[in-house]
Amino acid sequence: MNPNSIKYKNPGSSSTTRFERIHTVIFDNKENAELLIAKEIIQLIQKNNKKNKKTVLGLATGSSPKGVYKNLIEIHKKEKVSFKKVVTFNLDEYYGISKDHKESYNQFMDENLFNHTDIDRNNIHIPDGDLNKKVIDNFCKDYEKKIKSCGGIDIQILGIGANGHIGFNEPGSNLNSITRLVKLDYQTRHDARLNFNGIKNVPSSAITMGIKTILTSKRIILMAWGKSKSNAIKKTVEVRQNVNVPASLIQSHNNATIVLDMDSSSLLTRISQPWQVGEQTLDEEIKNRAIHWLSSKTEKPILRLTEKDYNQNNLSDLLVQKSHYDINLEAFNKLQRTITGWPGGKPNADDTHRPERKNPAKKRVIIFSPHPDDDVVSMGGTFDRLVSQGHDVHVAYQTSGNIAVSNEEVLKFVELYEDFFDRSSSLISELKNLLSDEKKIIKDRSVRKLASLIREKESLAATRFIGLNDSNVHFLKLPFYETGKIKKNKPTSDDLKIMCDLIKSIKPHQIFAAGDLADPHGTHKVCIELLFHSLKNLKKLNFMKDCWVWLYRGAWHEWDSHEIDMAVPLSPLQVLRKRRAIFYHQSQNNSVMFQGDDEREFWQRVEDRNREIAITYNDLGMADYQAMETFRRYHF
Ligand code: F6R
Repeated sequence: MNPNSIKYKNPGSSSTTRFERIHTVIFDNKENAELLIAKEIIQLIQKNNKKNKKTVLGLATGSSPKGVYKNLIEIHKKEKVSFKKVVTFNLDEYYGISKDHKESYNQFMDENLFNHTDIDRNNIHIPDGDLNKKVIDNFCKDYEKKIKSCGGIDIQILGIGANGHIGFNEPGSNLNSITRLVKLDYQTRHDARLNFNGIKNVPSSAITMGIKTILTSKRIILMAWGKSKSNAIKKTVEVRQNVNVPASLIQSHNNATIVLDMDSSSLLTRISQPWQVGEQTLDEEIKNRAIHWLSSKTEKPILRLTEKDYNQNNLSDLLVQKSHYDINLEAFNKLQRTITGWPGGKPNADDTHRPERKNPAKKRVIIFSPHPDDDVVSMGGTFDRLVSQGHDVHVAYQTSGNIAVSNEEVLKFVELYEDFFDRSSSLISELKNLLSDEKKIIKDRSVRKLASLIREKESLAATRFIGLNDSNVHFLKLPFYETGKIKKNKPTSDDLKIMCDLIKSIKPHQIFAAGDLADPHGTHKVCIELLFHSLKNLKKLNFMKDCWVWLYRGAWHEWDSHEIDMAVPLSPLQVLRKRRAIFYHQSQNNSVMFQGDDEREFWQRVEDRNREIAITYNDLGMADYQAMETFRRYHF
């Protein structure tokens, strides 16, 4: 391997990074970044192996370093790079679980790296999560000593928590902290709940290397992938270092690099507001974003932005070819034209500047809803309009959503059945017994089936209220979801076939789907990826040429104003109708089980969100609507 091939370059000029307080590199694709990190590690091992010297690695667990480990294993095997002289120190381990617990970091390291290399087991160091409390202090001191006696860590790799933690150094961790027992943050435990089948099973403390331990490494590489890390990365890279964002403390290290993919870097100024770092070639979408940003910054509607506003906010380049007047007008018209009360297209109207085509006047529509309720939660008003405007609307509930029905809710129906039919059977008492534990998620098939049925009946009540025939409601029950646990399976060709079969049978002119990738338990992401995959597979079919795909967002997230291609205003009465439709999903009201960190009920969140985007439109200079549902077109 040519050592010179290893480079972390920064794109653009140094002004590009002027908001960044630490060396940060962004890759178009995560795989290239992982390979580069692995190569840097391998290069050091090779160099040291030649001199018969140890290489001391500081290692992390979690999803972030998995790809790097995969590359290390591959290179180790292909290029016969020996790990015999590699010494490792892991950052952390949960406290209160044994080494052979399937979620222990000891197991993780064996599975993801050690078992596939020739590393000497005596050279592996991972905190022991099974120690008696009395000996922990000594263990931690000894861990520090061992690192020192090996000459210190040559390369420390890090992931980052959504709260900015590194290792298990949670917000508030001291700059001088060393290896110790710590309490885990709520957010950290929440993020780990899928692996432990519920937050209550996640250990509440851990042993972790300290910030000081990490900072004494000779080289630090912190990697972050995906949107969920973008907030923490913004604070780590662009905000002055502070203990509330532990990862920011590595700003003071003189040989640290932050390695990112596009999603995790999406909030950095150079990506989200490139005009602020002197980037001159802004594409149409970014120009639009810049104008909306300027309007919000100056607190002026678009049409009142002046030449001075553009000049004073690094946007003078926009004025080279067009006057501020023309730019304002274009942005204003563009936004104005997203607004329509005819989400299925307005028949007999000029549709040149409308978001949807007028023909065919009656469209076949599929609304894909990941869970049974996202349809009404996220686009209940638009759904209602599509039906009342005479389109042939179908709803496809992709998953059964049965995990989100509480045991007490299922018990209510079991008891109702028992009392009404005056039937006591062994099944009934077995079910009652199982359901007596309010909190536990019960895997039992009958319980899960009952929970699915409850959600089906609620969905039908809501779709009937909107005016849909039951025959237009499809419960796909995608198999990937049916694990009886919070953690779902990977989708397979069976899931894909169900999706493709439905699309082929309906031949829709419009598909609406949840482009809501931020839902806290990943089901929306799997569902949208399955749709994208289906579209790719079906693309060549004739009817697909007339099919337009619209992505909605709802309970978790809203589109930014510049991203919106269609905005459907709701009157105060329509907002109430939407609320009623949501209320039919009774099992999800009154403290739903999986609502993330937001305490509000779903209907409250969406009402707030639909109102907020209407206010944003108004601030940008549009008419004052009560609420709006918004969509972005997906071109496949
Ligand atoms: C684990 C560790 C943690 C993780 C962080 C991100 O050893 O040190 O700080 O790096 O919680 O976890 P993932 O990579 O799973 O997102």
